Amino acid sequence: MCGIIGYTGFRKAAPILLDALKRLEYRGYDSAGIAVINHEIKVEKRSGYVSYLSGNMEGHVGIGHTRWATHGEPTDINAHPFVDCRNEFAIVHNGIIENHEKLKEDLIKKGHRYSSKTDSEVIAHLLEEEYEKAGDFRKAFINAINRLKGSFAIAAIHKGEKRIMGVKKESPLIVGIGDGENFLASDVPAFLPYTNRVVILEDGDVCEITPKSVSFYDMNGNPVEKKEEYIDWSPESAEKSGYEHFMLKEIYEQPVAIENTVHSLFSTHIDLKYHGKINVIACGTSYNAGFAGKYLMEKMLKIPVEMHYSSEYRTRPNVRERALSILITQSGETADTLMAAKIARKRGHETLAITNVLGSSITHHVDHVLYTSAGPEIGVAATKTFMAQLASMYYLSAKLGVDYGIINESRHEEFMEEFRRIPRLIENSLQLEDDIKKIAYELKDKEHMFYIARGINYPLAMEGALKMKEISYIHAEAYPAGELKHGPLALIRKGTPVVAIVSKDETYEKMLSNIKEVSARGAYVIAISSESEVKSYVDQWIRTPSNNPDFSTFSSAVVLQLLAYHTAKLRGCEIDKPRNLAKSVTVE
Ligand code: F6R
Repeated sequence: MCGIIGYTGFRKAAPILLDALKRLEYRGYDSAGIAVINHEIKVEKRSGYVSYLSGNMEGHVGIGHTRWATHGEPTDINAHPFVDCRNEFAIVHNGIIENHEKLKEDLIKKGHRYSSKTDSEVIAHLLEEEYEKAGDFRKAFINAINRLKGSFAIAAIHKGEKRIMGVKKESPLIVGIGDGENFLASDVPAFLPYTNRVVILEDGDVCEITPKSVSFYDMNGNPVEKKEEYIDWSPESAEKSGYEHFMLKEIYEQPVAIENTVHSLFSTHIDLKYHGKINVIACGTSYNAGFAGKYLMEKMLKIPVEMHYSSEYRTRPNVRERALSILITQSGETADTLMAAKIARKRGHETLAITNVLGSSITHHVDHVLYTSAGPEIGVAATKTFMAQLASMYYLSAKLGVDYGIINESRHEEFMEEFRRIPRLIENSLQLEDDIKKIAYELKDKEHMFYIARGINYPLAMEGALKMKEISYIHAEAYPAGELKHGPLALIRKGTPVVAIVSKDETYEKMLSNIKEVSARGAYVIAISSESEVKSYVDQWIRTPSNNPDFSTFSSAVVLQLLAYHTAKLRGCEIDKPRNLAKSVTVE
C-alpha cells in the first residue's frame, strides 16, 4: 500500500523514479507522482496509473510515490508529492498523520495555503516553517517529524540540494546503496536493477542520502550506526520472465520457494518455551495458511491452537493465559497484525513472527522470527508466500513436537521425509494446469461458487474461495462440508459450481456424502482428490498426486490457485492488480 522511491546520483532521476514506481505497482495504488530538482522543484502527478506520467523533466535528484487513498479521494491534487507554499520542499509520505488537522489549522493561521485534502501535505508546510528557524535541511526535517503523530515513512527533497532526507516509523523504508548513486524506497524491488546492498531502517531511524554518502540519525538528530545487508534477490526475480502474469510466475516458483524456505528454516535456531497453548494471528491468505497449520499442530502437539483474525484480536478480552502467539504476515507490514503483535506481547505471550520480508516492521515487535524465503512476491494475490507459510507451520509443528518431548525422533524423521518431498509434490500438481484450464472455461460465466471440505482441507477451501473472489470477482464461499445442510444448501441450484477437496483420511466417507448432497440438488461438482472412486460422484475430477493426507494440502493449494488464475484470465480480469486489494495493508 503506497510506495516511496527516492533517487540521488549521476543518472537522470525521472526515468529511474518511474521505473521504480512501476516495480512498486504491486503494492496497490490509485494515483502516482514524481518531483525532480532542476534549479527548481518540478512535480508531475496524476490519479490513475504510473504510465500516465510523462517523466519529462531534467535533474538528478527526485522522489516518487504511488498513493492508495485514505484521506481525500484519489484525484490529481491529492496525489503525492506535495510542495510547500514557496515550492522549496517536496515530500512523499506513507502512513497516517493522526494530528494533521490540528497542525493544518495552526499553519493556516500563520498564512500557509493548502492544495489538497490529504493528511500528508502538512509535512511540506512544516518543513517550510522549520527551515525558516533552523536554516538547515536536516535540522528542519528532524524538527518537523518530531511534531508528527501517527505512522509514517517520508522522503523529502530541498531545492538546490542533492540530499534526500527520510524517516521510518511503522511504515517500511529501505536505503539502497549504489556506486555514485543512492536510493530510498519502501521495498527492495524498486531499486533491485541498480543495487543489492541495503540498509533496512527501523522505527525512529532518520536517513540522509547524497550521491556519495548515506548517514543515519535518531529522531533527536544523534548519529546512529546501521548494518548494511546484502539481498540475494535477482532483478529477474521481480520481472515476469516470459510469464503472462506475475501470479502465474509465482505459482510456478513454488517448488523453489519451498526449497529455499526449508533451507532457511533448518538454518534458523529458535528456542520456544512450552506454554500449553498456541494462538495463531493473521489476516487473509496468511490466516488461511495458519489455519491449515493449526490442524497439523494440534495433531502433533495435542495442545489447543486457537485462530484469531488480527483485526479482531484487539477486541478479545485480556483472558488469563500463557501462550505462544504466532503472527503470520508475508509483508511484515500489515497494520492489524502489527497491532495484534504488540497486544500479544503486552499480554505476556511469547511471540513469533513468520514473515517473508527481512527486517520488516513485524520483526521489531516479536521475540522470535522465522523467515520464509519465497523471494519477492509481486502479484497482489498471495501464492508462493502462502505455500511457504504453510510449510513453516508444518516445520514448526514437528520441531515443537520434538522440543516439547511430545513426538519421538523416529516419528519426527518420518514426518521430515514427507516434508522434504513438498517441492516435488507441488511440481507434480503444476502438471495439472491443462486440465484445470478446461474446467476454468466452465466457470468463467458463473457469478457464485462454493468450496467445501472437512478437517485440514477446510482452510484450503477458504483459500481457494479467497483466491477466486479476489482475482476473478466471482462470489465464492467456503464452508465446512458438514455445515452446508444447516442453511447454505438452500443456495445450491442446477449448475451451481461446488469445488470439493477430498482426502483419503477420516473425513473421506463424510465428504462423499456431502458431495452426493449437493449433486442431488443439481450442483456442478469439481472434486480435487487423489482417489479415483470420487470420479463417479462428480462432474469434474482433478486428480492430485496420491500422497499422505496431511500433505495433500500442498497439491490442492496449487490446483486452487491455478483454477482461480485461469478463471480470472478468461474473464479478462487484471490478475496482478485486482481491484480494491493492496499488497501490504498498512491501515487498520
Ligand atoms: C490475498 C492477500 C491478502 C493478504 C493479507 C495479509 O491474496 O494477499 O489477503 O494475505 O492482506 O497480508 P500479509 O500476509 O502481508 O499480512
